[in-house]
Amino acid sequence: MNIFITRTIPESGINLLKHAGCNVEIYQKDAIIPREDLLVGVRGKDAIVSLLTDRIDEEVFIAAGPQLKIIANYAVGFDNIDLLAAKKRGIIVTNTPAPEVSITVAEHTFALMAALAHRLVESDAFTRANKYHGWSPTLLLGTDIHHKTLGIIGLGRIGREVAKRAVFGFDMHCVYHDITRDKEFENTFKATYLSFEELLQMSDFVTLHVPLLPSTRHLISTDALSLMKRTAFLINTARGPIVDEKALLRALKTNRIAGAALDVYEVEPAIDADPHDRLELRQQSNVIMTPHTGSATIEAREAMSRLAAENILAVLAHRPPVTPAG
Ligand code: GLV
Ligand code: GLV
Repeated sequence: MNIFITRTIPESGINLLKHAGCNVEIYQKDAIIPREDLLVGVRGKDAIVSLLTDRIDEEVFIAAGPQLKIIANYAVGFDNIDLLAAKKRGIIVTNTPAPEVSITVAEHTFALMAALAHRLVESDAFTRANKYHGWSPTLLLGTDIHHKTLGIIGLGRIGREVAKRAVFGFDMHCVYHDITRDKEFENTFKATYLSFEELLQMSDFVTLHVPLLPSTRHLISTDALSLMKRTAFLINTARGPIVDEKALLRALKTNRIAGAALDVYEVEPAIDADPHDRLELRQQSNVIMTPHTGSATIEAREAMSRLAAENILAVLAHRPPVTPAG
C-alpha cells in the first residue's frame, strides 16, 4: 500500500505505517507543500496524510486516482477538506481528536487565559525593556480568574477539558452554549446552559471550541461583541473565521471588551484579514497572539501521528476508521 504524507510529522505514526509494510513517501521540504507538488505527490496513492494547510478537494481526488481510499487529516479540524466530494467518491476522511490533543488545547487555552488576566506578555516586554524600577502597588494590575464566569461555546472534547480545568482547577463558574444540552455535564461540573446571547452577557472569559462550519463563520460578530462585558476577554483556539476579526479589532480599539487571546486568524499565516487595516491587530496591547500552536506539544503531536496511522491501517484493512471526520 502506498501512502503520501504532505509534510514531515512526528515519527511514531510513520513507524507504525512502515512496520505494517506500507510504502511511505513524505514531501521532503519542511514547508507547506505547493499545490503542484501536492497534485503530483498523491498520484497512485492509497492513503494521504494531509495537514490543515492543504486544501483537499475534487482536484486532489482526481489527481490521486480511483485507488485512493482514505484522507487522514493530521488535525482535529477538517474544514480544509471537501467532505461531500470525498463522500461521493467513497473516500473516507478521518481526523485526529486524540484525548491527549484535547487536553493540550485545553492547557493552551488556560495558558492564554492566565496570560491575559495576569498581563504576562506586557509584563515580560516591560521587564526586558529595563522599565522595572521597583515594586509598585499599582504596577501592571491584572484581574483574577478564580470565581469568575467562563463561557464555553462548543461543548465537544476540547470544551469539556477546558471546563474540567476551569471548575476543578481554577474555581471558576462554568456556563456553556452548544446545539445540544448535556445534563450530566451540568451536574458534574455545576455548569449552566445558556443561550448564546446570555452566555456573552454573563461571561468574564469567553472561549470558543466549535468547528468552523457555515453556521459558525463570524459567530463572534459586532453584535455578539456588543453583548459582552466591557471587562470580558475572548479566547479563540478553534478556527480564525469563527471571529469577525475586523469587528474584534474595533471592539479592542474602543475597549468594548478588555482583551483577546488568539491562536488562530481569519487569514493564516498573514494575520491580516484586511490589508488596509495596517495589521493593527498586532499592535493592540490588549491582544495576545500565538501562531496556531494550540496543539503544539510533543505528546499531542505524537498522539496525532499515531492516530492518523491507525486510521489508515484500519481503512486499508477494510475495518471502520477509528476517528471518522464529521
Ligand atoms: C489544529 O488546529 C487542529 O485542528 O488540529
Ligand atoms: C509581593 O511581592 C508581596 O509580598 O506582597
